Amino acid sequence: MAKDEQNNRMEKLVSLCKRRGFIFQSSEIYGGINGFWDYGPLGAELKRNLRDTWWKAVIRQRDDVVALDASIILHPAVWKASGHVDTFSDPMSDCLLTKSRFRSDQIEPQSGTAVWFSGARSATTGHAPERPFAVLLRKNENIEQARRLAREYYAEGSVDKTTGDWMNLELLGERQEEVVNSTRFNPSNGGLLTEPRPFNLMLKTHTGPVESDDNVAYLRPETAQAIFAQFKNVVDSTRVKVPFGIAQIGKAFRNEITPRNFIFRSREFEQMELEFFIRPDEAIELLYGNVTRWEEGADLSSPQPNWGWEMWHRYWVAERTAYYAGIGLGPDVLDYYWQQPEDLAHYARATVDILFKFPFGTEELEGIAARGDFDLRQHQKHSGKPLEVFDEELKAAASALSEDQRQAFIQKTFENRSKPETTEAEISAYCHNLFKGNYLPHVIEPSAGLDRLALAILSAAYDEEVVTSDGGKSETRTVMRFHPRVAPIKCAVLPLLKNKPALVEKAREIVQSLRSQMNVFYDESGAIGRRYRRQDEAGTPFCVTVDFDTIGENGPENEGTVTLRHRDSMTQERIPITALKARLLEATL
Ligand code: GAP
Repeated sequence: MAKDEQNNRMEKLVSLCKRRGFIFQSSEIYGGINGFWDYGPLGAELKRNLRDTWWKAVIRQRDDVVALDASIILHPAVWKASGHVDTFSDPMSDCLLTKSRFRSDQIEPQSGTAVWFSGARSATTGHAPERPFAVLLRKNENIEQARRLAREYYAEGSVDKTTGDWMNLELLGERQEEVVNSTRFNPSNGGLLTEPRPFNLMLKTHTGPVESDDNVAYLRPETAQAIFAQFKNVVDSTRVKVPFGIAQIGKAFRNEITPRNFIFRSREFEQMELEFFIRPDEAIELLYGNVTRWEEGADLSSPQPNWGWEMWHRYWVAERTAYYAGIGLGPDVLDYYWQQPEDLAHYARATVDILFKFPFGTEELEGIAARGDFDLRQHQKHSGKPLEVFDEELKAAASALSEDQRQAFIQKTFENRSKPETTEAEISAYCHNLFKGNYLPHVIEPSAGLDRLALAILSAAYDEEVVTSDGGKSETRTVMRFHPRVAPIKCAVLPLLKNKPALVEKAREIVQSLRSQMNVFYDESGAIGRRYRRQDEAGTPFCVTVDFDTIGENGPENEGTVTLRHRDSMTQERIPITALKARLLEATL
């Protein structure tokens, strides 16, 4: 898609979202607040349906995943242990002139002539601030433009800007330099940016009545850490056994430097995260004498006891792909990025990003990481509480080994260690712990963003087509082709005329009969064609029209039937009211 076409599509989508009540800018009547969004009546239903499909696929339809609903504010020590306090940051650069802030790694590289100044002198005050400043001149830009910006920069705080004298500042040490693909300049005005420096993304608050360093707390930047912090409680209070997962959906907050692309990157968003705990490969080796590792074409359809982490990782990629296909996001709109060793977080063994083809480019929708035992180990260390599990089967398998076999196992584990700096003594201690049946489970983490998914679903659904109306006129129909499972309204019930009580009464009766099982919408105002168009824009997959046949005014033949209109094909069929609910449930569940 060409850039203009992409922008155009995105603009139309954003406009439809506002017009039809999917998504509004937060606090819009006060000018909005950057990076925050509200979901309107249709958006709230859409989001709820997405949450439900995830919950069903990840928790309800499985025996091995349980749920959690943790608080948003956790003990600050959690974020110290997880590494978020020290390392959860983006590189940031500020424009020296406007103070606008940019994520350094997202600045478009620019080429041109950089004009450098070493300082300026005020003719009126004699003040001569000496600080380097530069402006990048792009094609067709004049050097006077650079000088004007430089004077503006040096005037800041050194001369009275209201007098206009600042334009007389004498610029010092001007020199020019050609630069290629530089990210040191503000893309909008060419002004010099500060050197990149880390900016922690966690939003801070204070708990209790006094604001002090002692009661700093953070709004969680991800839901995952609460799962690790509650791991032991979940194990102790349920009958779960490794391999098993803990899943939760909830709000997360990040003080993003540049929130962008509508709801794609915002400061408040919702995550749907699963931490799936598995046995370490060494435990599998002890139990089964071998570990099944990933090979191209391996069967991922049903988990096997001797699967190693690679198989579980691939399995979850396949599971999540199947989930997306089930809500209408197939291989035509998805892609995958297998992170290269240099992209990987230091604790991750492998990470794959599931990407979606958004109108503004192909970007991450969900990340699936194999995180080893990093998180539990960190929380065990920082809290001082043991988080290991005891595995009866493992203990039994290990106790059947001879001393020689144990030594050989320790030796093999040492040779295969993933970190060369791990000592023989550490490996031996680790193996002896395994022989007793104890270990920290490893984790596979499929982590999806609900708002990103909503945007993916909205952009995949958006369509325009030229249709011919009954009167023979061509018009553009805007239709949201949501999968019926996630559509905000499943069915609109429309009496043909609103001033015919028998039609209205029958239509209301139908609404009542469907309401407990799906979101139904009743609409009696306007011509029927216009009502269909309104539902097309809302993405309602089915419209039921109650007409004179329904109430028997055209004879008994079609009495008790309605027309069922299909959104995508616009075809209509007559079906008995008694068959309606089953038909709709079959299509939308
Ligand atoms: N626990 C792992 C974790 O949080 P992440 O890649 O930072 O990993 C996971 O986030 C998912 O959360 C992303 O794939 C994305 O869908 C969503 N996400 C992250 N930051 C976001 C933001 N600022 N706005 C909207 N969604 C975001």
